[in-house]
Amino acid sequence: MSNESLTITDNRTGQKYEVAITDNTIQAMDLRQIKVDEEDFGLMTYDPSFMNTAACRSAITFIDGERGILRYRGYPIEQLAEKATFLEVAYLLSEGELPNQEQLDKWTDLIKYHTYVHTNIIKFLEGFRYDAHPMGMLLGAVSALSTFYPDARNIKDPENRYLQRARLLAKAPTIAAFAFRHSRGLPFVFPDNDLDYVGNFVNMTFSIGGQHKANKVLQRALEVLLILHADHEQNCSTSAVRGVGSSSVDLYSSVSAGIAALYGPLHGGANEAVIKMLDEIGTRDNIPGFIKDVKDGKRRLMGFGHRVYKSYDPRAELIKKIAFEVFDQTGMNPKLEVALELERIALEDDYFISRKLYPNVDFYSGLIYQAMGYPTEYFTVLFALGRMPGWLAQWEEMRCDENLKIARPRQIYTGPEERPYVPIEQRKALASV
Ligand code: ACO
Repeated sequence: MSNESLTITDNRTGQKYEVAITDNTIQAMDLRQIKVDEEDFGLMTYDPSFMNTAACRSAITFIDGERGILRYRGYPIEQLAEKATFLEVAYLLSEGELPNQEQLDKWTDLIKYHTYVHTNIIKFLEGFRYDAHPMGMLLGAVSALSTFYPDARNIKDPENRYLQRARLLAKAPTIAAFAFRHSRGLPFVFPDNDLDYVGNFVNMTFSIGGQHKANKVLQRALEVLLILHADHEQNCSTSAVRGVGSSSVDLYSSVSAGIAALYGPLHGGANEAVIKMLDEIGTRDNIPGFIKDVKDGKRRLMGFGHRVYKSYDPRAELIKKIAFEVFDQTGMNPKLEVALELERIALEDDYFISRKLYPNVDFYSGLIYQAMGYPTEYFTVLFALGRMPGWLAQWEEMRCDENLKIARPRQIYTGPEERPYVPIEQRKALASV
């Protein structure tokens, strides 16, 4: 065995084992040979929230959480945010390279071709209550697309997969915009394919009687926010897409699992939670009391902390810059002042420093979305639109992975040993019931 290996001594038996190290990783299945006797199932690892388990090999996104680095296919996020369009980034994530002009034109045409949704999707969306959360509507409608495109079940055909990915990327803004209009009781605005991807989305959300006159600064700010959210390797929602997709279900069903995961307040719902928190704090005077509650473990400082970034979140720096550009257009927001002060205090406080808690992507994004006119419950939908290319690329990469098997974690069983069935009249009432 080479030096790239690990020697393990099982102190229960005194046996020694050599396990290969590849890419700084050992194969969990190599541990299975470690047994007390032949009857033994073999050693497993316990990693309930995947704190230290690589579930796939991926060439899409690189993150160095200690150094605050994020790259899509090798390109630094800062350069993409400055120079690229969202559709270029979507192509890059999916195809592995930035498109040349001809490829981009073809890609753009394909996306435009698929922006319309079947009119039955409109009926479907109209069935939601007036106050339905738009994320629930997006989730429902994207999963419903699997019934409109049964050919998506043909997951073995690369061309078919390409078509489905383009379809979903094209239709996501339409569905998202319809969800927005539904909650406001406004008629749906259909796609205008003379506009670019983001311009079309903004028009479908905000147009009242004729084409919306977009503020170009706000529109580019929105596009950059979408780019910053486009992928983030194996996060909760992407793992959901891959996990569900590993069952060989179609793309729409797989991505709807990602949307469901993103809905949660510890993931995509955090920017909504940031606004609620800022509303609750109200004024700068209340910040010390709030920070004390956080340090006493009664609250969390929403928009702070990250499972991976432990120095800073590079997206948060870019977003803070965008926040100032946007507020320059829309006027200063009192909540931004509270947020800035909260950030200043937290970054000087030992509680946050020692735990490596820094602002994450959600700390300022909600404030920007609000300034653009999007209601709080809509923020996660904007995150989902941004993350769509990442989900699509990760799903495709999973499908092409020769090591793909259905995701099926193990467990450590902690329940009772075998016992005989008890007839109902002999069962004792539980003390707590
Ligand atoms: N406010 C206060 N304390 C915090 C926070 C926070 N936002 N985040 C973590 N901590 C503390 C924990 O209480 C814990 O302290 P302890 O060691 O004294 O018990 C320590 O920091 C480590 O926290 P964990 O929960 O173990 O960190 P984990 O990596 O599991 O959680 C998470 C990451 C979920 C993002 C967490 O930081 C959090 O809840 N943040 C607020 C929600 C948020 O902003 N989510 C958006 C994440 S970015 C995204 O999804 C796009």
